Amino acid sequence: MTDTLAVDAATPAGRLRRLGVVGCGQMGAGVVEIAARAGLDVRVAVSSVHSGERGLRRITGSLDRAVAKTKISAAERDGALDRISFTTALDDLADRQAVVEAVPEHESAKLQVFALLDKIVTDPEAILASNTSSLPIVRLARATQNPGRVVGLHFFNPVPVLPLVEVVGSVLTDQHTVDRAEYLATEVLGKTAIRSPDRAGFLVNALLFPYLLAAVRMVEAGIATPDDVDRGMVAGCSHPMGPLRLLDLIGLDTTVSIADALYAEFKEPLYAPPPLLLRMVDGGLLGRKTGRGFYEYA
Ligand code: CAA
Repeated sequence: MTDTLAVDAATPAGRLRRLGVVGCGQMGAGVVEIAARAGLDVRVAVSSVHSGERGLRRITGSLDRAVAKTKISAAERDGALDRISFTTALDDLADRQAVVEAVPEHESAKLQVFALLDKIVTDPEAILASNTSSLPIVRLARATQNPGRVVGLHFFNPVPVLPLVEVVGSVLTDQHTVDRAEYLATEVLGKTAIRSPDRAGFLVNALLFPYLLAAVRMVEAGIATPDDVDRGMVAGCSHPMGPLRLLDLIGLDTTVSIADALYAEFKEPLYAPPPLLLRMVDGGLLGRKTGRGFYEYA
């Protein structure tokens, strides 16, 4: 038996073995890596050869680290890499049984991806999922002719490390799609899933972001240094990292997009991005990905 997937044909995601991922940045690369490690054939659509090369470097670096830490063998790394292919043509995702969109949080770009995927991916059972953390799933669904197969699959950063996926059905998503998406996240990719409502921030970010933004306001007000805030939350509350380091990991631009979406939905001041955050984004200080945010990175 050559099939490496432990997926029973009778299951909701039966015989799901061909995954597409659109975008190979921080989140997309993480999804590609875990899917390839789970035995799926993963085709990644990127906007340019350059972004494909950068994405592949991210994935290879992460897999090499897993080998160095003896989490996987060198043969497993090579097997995972063999299952990943890149393309700059979205059309090459035509035969996919599920696609996860992970392009930057710009509504127009995501709407365009969904409108195209809807025409390209011909299997009516195929799941079209978004990793968005700030846009309503129903809006992405409306860009398609078959909104019943559009669902949110919200992964957490770093994807290979954090177990959670929020599964988000919109008012137009078929129950069958939600069930299959949850099956994909849990049984195929090995994650822990919760079902979250299609409202800004879903469940987790709606709780997390007021805390992160409050930390920025403390620094902005000059009442604490980033290091004191972070060490306080790590040593005092056992968080794996403090809020300002976490913001640098998430990316300050992504943070502003999420805060804007939360504020637009709920009109609560606690969700509004503080001016310091906006000015840092204006200045290109986006966190780890640009080498500087609240901290500097080599
Ligand atoms: N890829 C793969 N593995 C990684 C990794 C990566 N990018 N980063 C860290 N790891 C692994 C390491 O290999 C290590 O594994 P072992 O313990 O088995 O050796 C483990 O994670 C711990 O890593 P480190 O010792 O290097 O560093 P650390 O202890 O500081 O952990 C961290 C780093 C995993 C990022 C940890 O600090 C953490 O979990 N932080 C909180 C992250 C978090 O809250 N993320 C959610 C952000 S919100 C979000 O994503 C949603 C959104 O919409 C914005």
